[in-house]
Amino acid sequence: MIQTDFLVIGSGIAGLTYAVKMAQHNPDATITVLTKASTESETNTKYAQGGIAVVNNASDTFEAHIADTLIAGDGLCNPETVNIVVTEGPAAVNDIIDWGTNFDKSDDGDYLRGKEGGHSESRILHYKDITGYEIERALLAKAATLTNIIFLNHYFVIDIITQHHLGYLITKATRDTECYGVYALNMRSGKVEKLLSRMTLLASGGAGQVYRSTTNPTIATGDGIAMVYRAKGRVENMEFMQFHPTALFEVGVSPSFLITEAVRGDGGILRNVKGEAFMERYDSRKDLAPRDIVARAIDNEMKISGTDHVFLDCSHMDRERFLEHFPNIYDKCRSKGIDPFKDYIPVAPAAHYTCGGVKVDNYGRTSIDRLYACGECSSTGLHGANRLASNSLLEAIVFANRCYLDTLSRYERYNIRTDIPDWNAEGTTEPKEMILITQSRKELQAIMSDYVGIVRNNIRLERASRRIDLLHEETEALFDKTIISPQLGELRNLITCAYLVVKGAQLRRESRGLNYNTDYPHHSPRVENIIL
Ligand code: FAD
Ligand code: SIN
Repeated sequence: MIQTDFLVIGSGIAGLTYAVKMAQHNPDATITVLTKASTESETNTKYAQGGIAVVNNASDTFEAHIADTLIAGDGLCNPETVNIVVTEGPAAVNDIIDWGTNFDKSDDGDYLRGKEGGHSESRILHYKDITGYEIERALLAKAATLTNIIFLNHYFVIDIITQHHLGYLITKATRDTECYGVYALNMRSGKVEKLLSRMTLLASGGAGQVYRSTTNPTIATGDGIAMVYRAKGRVENMEFMQFHPTALFEVGVSPSFLITEAVRGDGGILRNVKGEAFMERYDSRKDLAPRDIVARAIDNEMKISGTDHVFLDCSHMDRERFLEHFPNIYDKCRSKGIDPFKDYIPVAPAAHYTCGGVKVDNYGRTSIDRLYACGECSSTGLHGANRLASNSLLEAIVFANRCYLDTLSRYERYNIRTDIPDWNAEGTTEPKEMILITQSRKELQAIMSDYVGIVRNNIRLERASRRIDLLHEETEALFDKTIISPQLGELRNLITCAYLVVKGAQLRRESRGLNYNTDYPHHSPRVENIIL
């Protein structure tokens, strides 16, 4: 058993920001950060390219950033949350700069600002095309200077501990569910351990891996979202899975390599297989329309031509500027035999960002007491039906700060609860065939990509639902008799997230933002969040 004052699940931008703030303020407290990967840096954060959207120059205004966010969100953003994130954003960005994050500057010392889809201003701070790598590096370096932060990597969190584990009946109507910590599989020893805390922060990231083609690394299996749902907490708006329009198209390669939207912000043009620039036929903002519109346009062009990709044309772009701003993308293209100044880059949409997630209030409190959530696993109300590009890193740091402040005001009333039973592995044996797990994961990803992609309809959703039910049944039976492994835990969580996406899409009888259903092509007059 491990006891800690504050338990943080996840070592991406959200978890690290909270941990650093808490450790600085509370030098006598222990903050334990858990991550399932073998290194703390393996997160979605590390792969962020474009940057972080923030108002930080005189020609930009909070009003403009707020308006852009609301427009992208297609009527479903919570305006109060949007206001909070945009106006508290500059201070939160200054914190990570103070901790050592570098953003590109011009010779006169001012920040360089990129532009992405849906933004009316150039306001994206970036570090070349590896912004996330730089942020993760700086936050880990900062955390390493704080001796009261303890990192435990290769710990796979299985479930959050609530009164359910003490034998009480918890239903979705229970109002006073509390989180006492987590059960986690120590992947080195193979033992399930109890980690008990006064307060727990869930910062476990998104669920892009429910799809076959995704920009998300393999860790993005929606574990935290599924855990909260299992614990009868609230999850909302999971139908809004964002597809990034331009992932590098490569047959059979997963995760897909991203070609940042900033390339289109700098002049890159989408062309169909006939070489036609097509975006002007879909939206007056052309290649810089919000992501849902561009991804749907590409999907349509691929259907018309019967191909599985379109092209991004960068051949006319300034070479020197491109090499300076996008060196990683240039190297990747060259490694695949593509010269961006001569060849069109083949691209296709790929699942990218989970807009819904664990429902939280404006201080990151979930519906389960003593449990906060921030970052991609949470649903704050900022993104509505479609996230504005580069708003997620900003949301993560603003909400990590709000979770930290709220934790400070409340944690003293809670003690660590120690009467928690050990993990019950009775009746389970070693898995005999891993194929039962790996094949189900592939099947699930195929079902989601083929039936619950960018364009949906009722028949496909119904088919997906029936097939996911079967996978659920088979996997739960396997879980009951098999010793837990990360692969089995992730499969369960992916199935739960897929169920939540499909259920949300079925309940939402309208097309809004990222949920486009040809059986209901218009907005419903009732604007509502779907809470499961
Ligand atoms: P993550 O960074 O994903 O961290 C999740 C952590 O939780 C990891 O440490 C993981 O190991 C841990 N974890 C998960 N499950 C468990 C478990 N069961 N047990 C233990 N640990 C667990 N956003 C922008 O704003 N701008 C961009 O330019 C941008 N570019 C992107 C490019 C790519 C290719 C991708 C994939 C995303 C991009 N995003 C961008 C989105 C953004 O990167 C993510 O939303 C953000 O980094 C999520 O941060 P996080 O801290 O919430 O989660
Ligand atoms: C990108 O760089 O295009 C990704 C930005 C984001 O996902 O916000």
